[in-house]
Amino acid sequence: MTHITLPGLIDCHVHFREPGLTHKADMASEAHAAVAGGVTTVCEMPNTIPSTVSVEALADKVRRAAKIKNCDIRFFMGATEKRHLMALRDIWRGSSPILQQLKKRCCGLKVYFDHSTGNQGADQETITEAFRLCGELRIPLVAHCEDAEMNAKASSGEPRLSAADVSLHSKMRPPESEVAAIKRALGLARKYRTQFHVAHLSTAGGLQLVREAKKEELPVTCEVAPHHLFLTVEDYATLGTLGKMNPPLRSKEDQAALWEGIADGTVDCIATDHAPHTLEEKKCTDPLKAPSGVPGVETMLPLLLTVAVGGWPHPEEKFSAFRFQISDVVRLCFENPNRIFSLGKRKDEYQIKVDLEKEWIVKGKNLHSKCGWTPYEGWRVVGEITSAT
Ligand code: DOR
Ligand code: ZN
Repeated sequence: MTHITLPGLIDCHVHFREPGLTHKADMASEAHAAVAGGVTTVCEMPNTIPSTVSVEALADKVRRAAKIKNCDIRFFMGATEKRHLMALRDIWRGSSPILQQLKKRCCGLKVYFDHSTGNQGADQETITEAFRLCGELRIPLVAHCEDAEMNAKASSGEPRLSAADVSLHSKMRPPESEVAAIKRALGLARKYRTQFHVAHLSTAGGLQLVREAKKEELPVTCEVAPHHLFLTVEDYATLGTLGKMNPPLRSKEDQAALWEGIADGTVDCIATDHAPHTLEEKKCTDPLKAPSGVPGVETMLPLLLTVAVGGWPHPEEKFSAFRFQISDVVRLCFENPNRIFSLGKRKDEYQIKVDLEKEWIVKGKNLHSKCGWTPYEGWRVVGEITSAT
């Protein structure tokens, strides 16, 4: 069977950059890229300008998204200060029809334990209050788990990033920092019974903590990003600053652990953390100044399908031992995110058709994101995606 039909996929972690950063990307361009990659529902992050920390900012995004007809865009609220949580509380309690409408477009709260693009890092008090409020109101809370102090300490121990060595980025944001932040977050989720979702989980240690928390029946879930499933620190050699993202590229051992987490059900979602920056910004001669983030919404499904048919798309590696099936795509990129974020999507609402016999070469210039580049340039993948409904 070479043609398969799948539900339009859900990507629960994207940055579409509108408003305020539309030189990088915008809702229309990135929705086009998403649909070309078989993704028809996305959950968009709050680190835009202005950031999505007020009722007005959410209302503005919802208005803009209403013009995008082919892709259902939902939004996370953000919070860097305690007062931002009041806006979230108002939306969730929905005392007016307008607020009730906004609640339907809001998938939860995103908090950052450390600064990343857009400096959204929150202080400890705000983070604690966020877990408490989300626990009380049953709002899904997604956290970027990297410990600010540990990252700062690791960075001060490293010589300044030199143009020759962007790979230091992975040492300046070490695996222990993710593990420590997840530990702290799990403590808060346990205390307040918060429905807690770990964004872009990237380490074996972090995964093990989630595995144990699930055994304890904490309401915890997690996602992994394609770039941590297909790339490792070894790829800095070819990618340079194009391989810079937060959390950073990790070791082969971490990569293998994430695939194992998919196989044993610890990993709930694959989500792209689609984070377009212009090529000019990324190719900045000082790696310390190059922004973190890679696009990925259009390439996720072809990369995963390549593994599902028994192949491995990395051009410098002949094969992998990772197990993955097409049913896993539906579980990780539709059923689980749909349930975790209460998106209310039906499988037959929007369907995509995929021709598994079609092989193609990924080229940034043929993809639809406004940023025009991809970390998977030249990779051979399978799956021609067309809309079925
Ligand atoms: O690599 C990243 N890019 N990590 C983040 O946390 C933010 C994102 C972005 O918005 O560029
Ligand atoms: Zn992100």
